[in-house]
Amino acid sequence: MISCLDETGFDAALDDLTDILHACVHDGASIGFILPFAPDQARAYWQNRVRPDLHTGALDLFVARGNERILGTVQLIPAMMPNQPHRADVAKLLVHPEARRRGLGRALMAALQDRAIALGRSLLVLDTRSTDPSCILYQSLGFQIAGEVPNYCRNPFEDRLEPTTYMFKDLSQADVLRTLAAKQ
Ligand SMILES: CC(C)(COP(=O)(O)OP(=O)(O)OC[C@H]1O[C@@H](n2cnc3c(N)ncnc32)[C@H](O)[C@@H]1OP(=O)(O)O)[C@@H](O)C(=O)NCCC(=O)NCCS
Repeated sequence: MISCLDETGFDAALDDLTDILHACVHDGASIGFILPFAPDQARAYWQNRVRPDLHTGALDLFVARGNERILGTVQLIPAMMPNQPHRADVAKLLVHPEARRRGLGRALMAALQDRAIALGRSLLVLDTRSTDPSCILYQSLGFQIAGEVPNYCRNPFEDRLEPTTYMFKDLSQADVLRTLAAKQ
């Protein structure tokens, strides 16, 4: 159900990814875009912002499939600076509004965490709106709230600013436990 896309897979998935991003923004998600938001803008994000990073290996793109189409996605973006070889960002966890509460978001995050551990990235960082379901999901996965930045971004629907909440998860213990389990 969950897979990590290469460039060929990405090209085949582009229509579905476009649909998911467009639908999530119109459903009210605070994920970098504001209305009006046309399908072409969603497609341009994937083609111009994500595909080049996929090409250089700057990110891992996970997708969740169901009913022969892609219904969800998330990105793991390892930090590039030499003083953060252990850190990665989590970005754009998106599940199509028609496919929510079926465990896809949780499954995508599990795959992302496994990959982070495999890459030796023991600290995950993300930001989200504290009032969104995503915050509940992240906390249930062991993410902790670092703090809130006021007036961080525009609300997607209304002419006002809103805060974002930074969260983090320390995977170093998960790494140790997994190694111990593998030895037993
Ligand atoms: C956040 C999001 C990815 C969750 O995807 P999902 O596939 O519906 O999540 P899951 O079904 O795996 O839910 C896992 C847990 O998260 C919590 N959760 C998810 N949606 C919830 C909701 N609407 N209300 C309360 N809790 C919720 C629950 O604890 C849930 O476990 P449960 O179903 O056993 O109670 C989805 O709501 C989404 O795409 N939101 C818009 C985009 C967004 O804001 N992304 C985050 C950017 S940082």
